Amino acid sequence: MRSPQRGVHPRLAGLVLRHRRHRWAAPIHAGSRAAFDEVLRWRDPSRPLILDSGCGTGASTALLARRHPDAQVLGIDRSAHRLARAPRTGAAVLLARARLEDAWRLLLEARLRPARHYLLYPNPSPKPGQVGRRWPAHPVFPTLVALGGVLTVRSNWRIYLDECAHALSLHGRAAAPVVSFEADAPLTPFERKYAASGHTLYDLTLSLDLDPLENPHAQPYPGS
Ligand SMILES: C[S@@+](CC[C@H](N)C(=O)[O-])C[C@H]1O[C@@H](n2cnc3c(N)ncnc32)[C@H](O)[C@@H]1O
Repeated sequence: MRSPQRGVHPRLAGLVLRHRRHRWAAPIHAGSRAAFDEVLRWRDPSRPLILDSGCGTGASTALLARRHPDAQVLGIDRSAHRLARAPRTGAAVLLARARLEDAWRLLLEARLRPARHYLLYPNPSPKPGQVGRRWPAHPVFPTLVALGGVLTVRSNWRIYLDECAHALSLHGRAAAPVVSFEADAPLTPFERKYAASGHTLYDLTLSLDLDPLENPHAQPYPGS
């Protein structure tokens, strides 16, 4: 990933701490709310929930459902164009067209906490002036943290994951290592594309649950 930024952005900590102090109250988009009504109808609380945030074409959502047959897997993306290319899947998968900044707040409000949460290859916004567009610096980030579960973020830009780890440590979540890995069995189309182009891929995985009893489903899914 090319970027003039050489390390964690110097404004990141200030943004994270400011957003941690103030609850973000921006209005929720009507389209996201309508999509969420369907999520509420689909959700079976007796099964663990896995979130695939920014699922794109839903390929990873389908794959995660195959890996975790006892879970329900919710893919969320704002792009109708990408979602239209999703593979056919069973009732354990739902793809919702919504903005993540709305969906995460609606999920938390409804206490729909994921056992696992995947944020795979989020748009990096790599110019230094775009730091506020990255999820760790976004006002909705405290909501993502509060949702809990085991979070996995992947990127081909190591600094993005260093920023996620730093933001999470400012939220009191133990510093987790950012690791590079070989994508022998790519989880997503972007992972496949980056691996084929010889990019180094990075993964950050950690439990967001301060108290595991808050979210008993967070424990049974140690594998990716
Ligand atoms: C780089 S693509 C990665 C897609 C997929 N996870 C993959 O790895 O192949 C980023 C995805 O995030 C979605 N996205 C970006 N910002 C979003 C937002 N605010 N709300 C919902 N989806 C968003 C885009 O539509 C796009 O599908």
